[in-house]
Amino acid sequence: MCGIVGYVGRRDVLAADGSADPAPGINSHSALDVVLEGLRRLEYRGYDSAGVAVIADGGIESRKKSGKLSNLIDELDARPLPQSLTGIGHTRWATHGGPTDQNAHPHLADGDQLAVIHNGIIENFAEIKASLTAKGHTFRSETDTEVAAVLLGDIYRSLAAKGEASLTKAMQLACQKLEGAFTLLAIHQEQPDVVVAARRNSPLVVGLGENENFLGSDVSGFIDFTRRAVELGQDQIVTITPDSFEITDFHGQPAEGTEFEVNWDAAAAEKGGYPSFMEKEINDQPAAVGDTLLGRADANGRLMLDEVRIDPELLKSVDKIIVLACGTSAYAGQVAKYAIEHWCRIPTEVELSHEFRYRDPIVDGNTLVVSISQSGETMDTLMAVRYAREQGAKTVAICNTNGSTIPRESDAVLYTHAGPEIAVASTKAFLAQITAAYLLGLYLAQLRGLKFQGEIRDILSDLGAIPKKIQAILDNADQIKKLAREMADTKSVLFLGRHVGFPVAMEGALKLKELAYIHAEGFAAGELKHGPIALIEEGQPVFVVVPSPRGRHSLHSKVVSNIQEIRARGAKTIVIAEEGDEAVRAYAEHVFYIPETPTLLAPLLATVPLQMFACELATAKGYDVDQPRNLAKSVTVE
Ligand code: M6R
Repeated sequence: MCGIVGYVGRRDVLAADGSADPAPGINSHSALDVVLEGLRRLEYRGYDSAGVAVIADGGIESRKKSGKLSNLIDELDARPLPQSLTGIGHTRWATHGGPTDQNAHPHLADGDQLAVIHNGIIENFAEIKASLTAKGHTFRSETDTEVAAVLLGDIYRSLAAKGEASLTKAMQLACQKLEGAFTLLAIHQEQPDVVVAARRNSPLVVGLGENENFLGSDVSGFIDFTRRAVELGQDQIVTITPDSFEITDFHGQPAEGTEFEVNWDAAAAEKGGYPSFMEKEINDQPAAVGDTLLGRADANGRLMLDEVRIDPELLKSVDKIIVLACGTSAYAGQVAKYAIEHWCRIPTEVELSHEFRYRDPIVDGNTLVVSISQSGETMDTLMAVRYAREQGAKTVAICNTNGSTIPRESDAVLYTHAGPEIAVASTKAFLAQITAAYLLGLYLAQLRGLKFQGEIRDILSDLGAIPKKIQAILDNADQIKKLAREMADTKSVLFLGRHVGFPVAMEGALKLKELAYIHAEGFAAGELKHGPIALIEEGQPVFVVVPSPRGRHSLHSKVVSNIQEIRARGAKTIVIAEEGDEAVRAYAEHVFYIPETPTLLAPLLATVPLQMFACELATAKGYDVDQPRNLAKSVTVE
């Protein structure tokens, strides 16, 4: 939640005319250009308001506006900022205080000489505000951020009074007083070539350039300018100047970050000709699954998950797996449960991260905790992973974002290779997570000798065939898109599934809620008669994810019976079934066929029409499918 960007470039490489455009061949960009480009890429993290501050002509200048980034850009057109080489920018998902201009970041303090932006929540802001008020400070917003800014300004001023003015030192002292989760970035006009940032339980990465350095909530914040990045640890402060970066802890002790190369392609974070990121990302799915499988097995189908650095002997002794995740990632976890239990015979629980640590769960050294997170920053999941580690569990993260916190704090990581997912509602990351979870399940089965090599090779070969099958569904999108447009006025849609089709049904419902703001519920088809069937009335649309009639025949016939039961009560049934399943035709208003695949792998296909349906329906209603209301991509507060 909230996107943060910081930039500082070298003043002595300014163009001869004194503008911030550098002399040819020298890296040093205009701070405003860098910050706005970063905000454009980070806007998916929050879009309640946006703001920037730069140091120019010896002072701080700031612009901020409620609403999307485009409002800020209009404001900057109307009231341009002077050229500058030091700046910070913020795109907000509101926590304390509504999404107004006044509450937008940056917040100024120390006589408007200091500007601060913030991601997270400062839990003890009320107490600090009271003591600052008692000292005579006043506040212009309802935010916890302004409290941090005023505190920082107060400390800076006291240091300056002793002849020790230092924004870094002031940040260290301020952070010692702050509680909660925060990334803070600050600039001060008395230190024009410096941006100081602090992080506690909230994301921040440094980008390293030549004659310039960058800060971002994630690497998208500076991906257009550099691929060299540094991960910071918890409770660290970084000071960037044009030619240096220095990391300390909150007490001023030197600390180190970990440098890494950004492997995301900047073009992958563009729409690539699609009308929305959502459509692009749905269409990226064959590659997301294919790339996640790439290089994970040798020619004999022997899995080599080098990133899973946990001692194989320990993995053999695991007697319970707990999958922790939220939202769509939790549905990927539910699919994983079916596969892992079937292949590995290890009891596997799936738990919403935010529920986990508040219920005194049974976790010990023989428990393997698998967290699933696209962003790697979801606070609920991070806290749950920490809790599990404290209890002695081994932790593996399935994650899509290099340099993020959850993988760094886990014993091992299995990266999904979906590429940057910009649309707030998750699509390609979901399929990539399921793919990675299958790999993990097969790896455990291999380690524990529960599957012959040939069996693993066969499943990998079935997985290898999935990208083409997804492509075939995407190439046949017309029918589902047409139905979506016809249903644009629908008020409620139900989704039914069984076995691995159950999480698919819940994911289909979540996509529709998130994108089209339509009431939607996913149910296990078997649960229908225990209550939800009361919702069925004449014309109620119900999607039914039907399992393959091959293999577990009983499951197929039971779901067909469920369809008959709801049809008899007036439901309009829309069925996702396997090619060749003629039995369902008689009971469905609409049938969408997906290619044949083993039952356990079917979610990788059955989800796709549901994503396309939600995206098209929301588009038909005129909604912004990339930035649905009230949401943010990365939920970094509890
Ligand atoms: O980054 P994460 O995978 O940890 O995010 C988890 C959820 O917040 C996320 O899946 C959310 O439910 C999306 N809005 C789903 O589209």
